[in-house]
Amino acid sequence: MQAKYSDIERLEQLIRRLAPLFGPSGAEDQVRAAVIDLVKPLAHEVTVDALGSVIALRRGTGGAGAKKVMIAAHMDEIGIMVTHIDDDGFLRFAPVGGVGPATLLGQQVVFEDGTVGSIGIEKVDGPKDIQMDKLFIDIGATSRAEAEKAVRIGSSATYLRDVARSGRRLIGKAMDDRAGCAVAVETLHQLKADPSPHDVYFVFTVQEEVGLRGARTAAYAIEPDVAIAVDVTATGDTPKGERLNMKLGGGAAIKVKDASLIAHGGVRELLVQCAADEGIPYQMEVLPYGGTDAGAVHLTRSGVPSGVVSIPTRYLHTPAEMVDLGDAAAAADLLTAVLRRDLTLTAGA
Ligand code: CO
Ligand code: ZN
Repeated sequence: MQAKYSDIERLEQLIRRLAPLFGPSGAEDQVRAAVIDLVKPLAHEVTVDALGSVIALRRGTGGAGAKKVMIAAHMDEIGIMVTHIDDDGFLRFAPVGGVGPATLLGQQVVFEDGTVGSIGIEKVDGPKDIQMDKLFIDIGATSRAEAEKAVRIGSSATYLRDVARSGRRLIGKAMDDRAGCAVAVETLHQLKADPSPHDVYFVFTVQEEVGLRGARTAAYAIEPDVAIAVDVTATGDTPKGERLNMKLGGGAAIKVKDASLIAHGGVRELLVQCAADEGIPYQMEVLPYGGTDAGAVHLTRSGVPSGVVSIPTRYLHTPAEMVDLGDAAAAADLLTAVLRRDLTLTAGA
């Protein structure tokens, strides 16, 4: 496996470090601490905003045409949140972001303090009857009082899962979007080694999975000239899967549209041209649903020309999300390359 700029080994280590961390929307503290550790030596300035997003500024060399660029990757992941504790110590829960009951059933989950539990289900009539309100978390407590020593109403949990590697692929929870965070950190490494003319604000956002919330406030504060989100996208390359263009191993995906955004034509074409010129593998992405931080960023203030570099991912929002390391490296290569270019946009294109 070869990458134009990225250090693939480092990228893999970054994903392995970030993906297992606990960080459902609104409870990103552990991820934030790790991200701050990683970006401190690479950025000129690291701040945390009021909602909890990390903003790492890598100042550019400046000159004519130098822009203010925002790169966004979200730290949060989907999860579940305790809504009720019964007398026997079983916990009922609500989803945090897009989690499904069929995926949850039989999984191990973990709370912020390390408390683990199993997802159990009431007696049901069949697979059609697997609904969220039939599921519960069993943390092994035998009473409400015992359960309340570990968790309370509002405690959130995520899948308990490490990253595994199979060939070129990494499998684990929260590739959405820790893989994107890792790509952003790797890009910072590249810009430190060989700078960009632009001031680049790497924003590690909170609360993407519940409505792109952290990206919205960060973009308002930064007022970027151009923005690019780095996130995962679905693929159509599995048996009887959706008819989608994106596939694992096909390179970085350049988004045209999802349900939150029509990518700015100028940004999209800059990315396409850059990938083509540099020989970085890429594929075009149209996702009929879903959204990324760019959906919020492009509507900030009077509008921000925005695009997305996506990492194709199978089994999204499950504990076995699968990415191709080569695609992640291509995403980091593409960001690195485009950030060293003239980012003057041809309007709309
Ligand atoms: Co997601
Ligand atoms: Zn995501």
